[in-house]
Amino acid sequence: MWKILVTEKIHPSGLKELRKDPEVELLEKVDMSEEEFFHLVKDVDALVTRSGTSIDKRVLDEAKRLKVVARAGVGVDNIDLDWASRKGVVVINAPTGNTLAATEHTFALLLSICRKLPHGFNDLARGGWNRKAFMGMQLHGKTLLIIGLGRIGSQVAKRAEAFGMEVLAYDPYISARKVEELGVRRALELEGALALADVVTLHTPLTSETKGMIDERTLKAFKKGAILINCARGGLVDEQACADAIREGRLAGAAFDVFSQEPPKNDHPLFAEDIRDRVVLTPHIGANTHEAQSAVSLIIAKNLLAALKGEPYEHA
Ligand code: NAD
Ligand code: MLT
Repeated sequence: MWKILVTEKIHPSGLKELRKDPEVELLEKVDMSEEEFFHLVKDVDALVTRSGTSIDKRVLDEAKRLKVVARAGVGVDNIDLDWASRKGVVVINAPTGNTLAATEHTFALLLSICRKLPHGFNDLARGGWNRKAFMGMQLHGKTLLIIGLGRIGSQVAKRAEAFGMEVLAYDPYISARKVEELGVRRALELEGALALADVVTLHTPLTSETKGMIDERTLKAFKKGAILINCARGGLVDEQACADAIREGRLAGAAFDVFSQEPPKNDHPLFAEDIRDRVVLTPHIGANTHEAQSAVSLIIAKNLLAALKGEPYEHA
């Protein structure tokens, strides 16, 4: 029997497939205490998680029977990949399941900040009718810099063109052919590209190389009055430096779905009262559509069973 521990809320579609397998014993334990988690993890063959469970050295050392960690999503930055590989633990993810959900959420953030949607709604709900206070920025004719032209970045590029935006992309790891196929302009150097963009959107994984790529120094390279969108990972941006740039008027605004610490604390720099009218924040819901969650869950179930049985499985 394979004992599989599910530590976060996963769409039922894939869990149903796992339960159907006579060799699987499925334990769904959302919101466990640390103590309970460490007790259960000792005796499982596989873990299914989202971004809220840290699979660090300590967990991997305790999980003596562990063979597979299945990440129901794209980012594997919550897993110590080097240690997992040293322990012979396979890490799988669902790289394609939520691409469109994250792409659409990027535009939800972009349009919300450009047209001040939450601020207009809040004012209206408080009895206001201040049409002049909510003057926005048009996307048509503006330059969008996409940092990371992978699955999500590419889909963002296609949609940005439909809005009449000029698309620039910075990604040192993609082929010239891909850039050409997408019909975007390639930026060979980050700071020069930042100076040209009206909107900057991040779509890289969080790695030791990308951590803090938007910090006090790179923020100084931004065009004055630009907008920053982060629907990728919190650690990519120095959030205090970003809040300061908004406060000083160097950035016109920022819209984030992800935070370096999740959930963010009440005193998070982007919650500051004096910049609230220039910020839109959502609680890491970029992948939260019924379609994406169902797809991710099914991909994980299929690949997890294959990995446990020693059969070929898809992996990013
Ligand atoms: P992907 O691997 O297809 O694309 C990532 C791209 O980033 C690649 O093309 C890679 O070459 C590029 N890249 C890597 N290092 C770079 C660097 N230093 N500078 C510029 N580009 C760099 O991944 P994806 O499916 O497009 O997802 C991207 C990230 O989005 C994921 O790693 C995940 O963290 C995040 N994500 C967030 C949500 C959400 O709910 N908000 C949902 C899905 C994915
Ligand atoms: C991902 O990396 O896929 C996102 O963070 C979304 C998620 O974890 O649900």
